[in-house]
Amino acid sequence: MRKKVVYFDNAATSGIKPPSVIKAICDCLKKKNANPGRSGHSLSVKAAEIIYSCREKIGELFNFDKTENIILTKNATESLNIVINGILNTGDEVITTSMEHNSVLRPLTYLKEKRHIKVTIINADLNGQINPKDILNSISDKTKLIVVTSASNVTGTKMDVEKIREIAQYNNIKILVDAAQGAGTVKIDFKKSPFDFIAITGHKHLFGPQGTGALIIKNNEELEPLMFGGTGSQSEKIIHPGFLPDKFESGTLNTPGFAGLSAGIEFILGKKIENIISYEKQLTNYLIKKLKEIEEITIYAANVERVSTVSFNINGFQPSEVADYLDKNHGICVRSGLHCAPEAHKTINTFPNGTIRFSLSYFNTKEEVDTSINALKSFIIKNKN
Ligand SMILES: Cc1ncc(COP(=O)(O)O)c(C=O)c1O
Repeated sequence: MRKKVVYFDNAATSGIKPPSVIKAICDCLKKKNANPGRSGHSLSVKAAEIIYSCREKIGELFNFDKTENIILTKNATESLNIVINGILNTGDEVITTSMEHNSVLRPLTYLKEKRHIKVTIINADLNGQINPKDILNSISDKTKLIVVTSASNVTGTKMDVEKIREIAQYNNIKILVDAAQGAGTVKIDFKKSPFDFIAITGHKHLFGPQGTGALIIKNNEELEPLMFGGTGSQSEKIIHPGFLPDKFESGTLNTPGFAGLSAGIEFILGKKIENIISYEKQLTNYLIKKLKEIEEITIYAANVERVSTVSFNINGFQPSEVADYLDKNHGICVRSGLHCAPEAHKTINTFPNGTIRFSLSYFNTKEEVDTSINALKSFIIKNKN
């Protein structure tokens, strides 16, 4: 009989959602299923309230009170592209890091060719850590933007985004934080740390469904929209509105999805993010301790300030071989390979095969870690000779 699934792929998408998330999505589809901000009838108003409430919840989580500056998107990739495409013009320079996801590096590489922007990639060390001084030393009078992840999706390393923000803003440079991995796992308080742009995804550590994301924009300035179209506002004009959030929200939003995302964030606010972070930290430390006991295993960035993502390899075996074994024989879902971040793997010397990645969530348990450790040991015993 197939064992209960152990889901350790939360950095890709959180596998277990709070029941309130599923209920909110179903309730929206059953009872409030109309177009938000378009028609004006009572159901449409209810749908619009869902959207507004989601902006408020995101604002509460990040301590950011300009709700109109919270743009709802379909994922972090869209949020990152809005800023990267919207701000960089021919001749501009941008600084980023080798730990970034392809959702940062690909749009930048595209603009390098198409708009002749200069992209400086700061190399992290073997632990995935960036020295903020390297960023400082790369600034020129043409540097317009710094893009940095809040936590690596490969090693789980937390970045010193606060220090980098201070450097950026002192030098009058905009900073875009990729919080795809950090939202829900790292406390970001906008009042203390007013980043220019924070890109968020809903389906990972915020427990929302796929197809939801957001972009927090400090000021509505010099950023061109990525898309143009219907917004439900200023319908008499064929010119796209310039006010927020409509400037960046063309087309009907994913109302059921944002109902779910609101419930996911409400769950986090109810538990308190500090408690979620603390539980995940304990569980991740336990996982690392158990992995360290297996001599055939190499852990990457084992001793850094981190989120609940851990990369490792079993010496002499392909990561995909191990992940397949865990899935097919033990019902353990993990990710293997490059995790859409090839430069990060070049940094930690795991390119081109990558790593096995375990990424935990608030819903995982110590027992599941034990099950996975036993499964790794059984793989090693089976394949030793
Ligand atoms: C650091 C980082 N940035 C961006 C993304 C893209 O997120 P999404 O697929 O939700 O757009 C991911 C997804 O894995 C990520 O880990």
